[in-house]
Amino acid sequence: MRLAFFGDVVGRPGRDALETHLPGLRRRLALDFVAVNAENASGGFGLTEKTARELFELGADCLTLGNHSWDQREALTYIEREARLLRPCNYPPLSQAPGRGANLFTTPAGQSVLVISALGRVHMDALDDPFSAVDRELDACPLGVAADAVIVDIHAEATSEKMAMGHFCDGRASLVIGTHTHVPTADAQILPGGTAYQTDAGACADYDSVIGMSKGEAVRRFATRLPGERHKPASGAGTVCGVFVETDARTGLARRIAPIRLGGRLAQSSPQLEVEPA
Ligand SMILES: [Fe+2]
Ligand SMILES: [Fe+2]
Repeated sequence: MRLAFFGDVVGRPGRDALETHLPGLRRRLALDFVAVNAENASGGFGLTEKTARELFELGADCLTLGNHSWDQREALTYIEREARLLRPCNYPPLSQAPGRGANLFTTPAGQSVLVISALGRVHMDALDDPFSAVDRELDACPLGVAADAVIVDIHAEATSEKMAMGHFCDGRASLVIGTHTHVPTADAQILPGGTAYQTDAGACADYDSVIGMSKGEAVRRFATRLPGERHKPASGAGTVCGVFVETDARTGLARRIAPIRLGGRLAQSSPQLEVEPA
């Protein structure tokens, strides 16, 4: 199967970049399934129904969230109606968080794809243990048995926690992909057990910025330590960042992972996608 995952869409530049590049990528790479982290898609904070619909129209099959899941309050009710939208799976049971943290999708060709969203605990506003939560989801829908592919979005600050999640899922997921730090890491690899892994997918955002946000206010806050204006997404051309993964039809494990970087500042000075068409 041919999968793509794109990192945190930050505001209008991220959405515009996906609009420019995603339809062509779907065709060129003959993608069977596309998942996108959308926790910053609406003005940099959370996700509205209108923006979610826009991303589904552009070719996303599944949208994941993160620590900004509920910044747009309407997401609390929208997620109950939209099974393609996932929030982290490791909310404490008492929270009775709306929506779901994992779902099994069926592609037009009839392949099944399990997507799991989880939130890390290191340097984050911590939820419950993400490892046991992901473990439960993987056990409930084993790769190669109940799912043709499994994607785990580990939304976390710490590189170490994300890498640990990669190894924890190795052999049981097609792809473990980090999100949240908005900068693509250079460690795309297939782990020993056959799981494709990259510590952070990067963002779909304007990279003349501080992690997608307007650099003036971000730099000023760091330099002065005084409160100021609300953060706003930077408004220049966006770069689409993500990964392409090809899986084995029988086992569901990864055969290949390749980073994707298209458009905008980041793609001008860093390697482009090196994947030949199907
Ligand atoms: Fe984010
Ligand atoms: Fe985040």
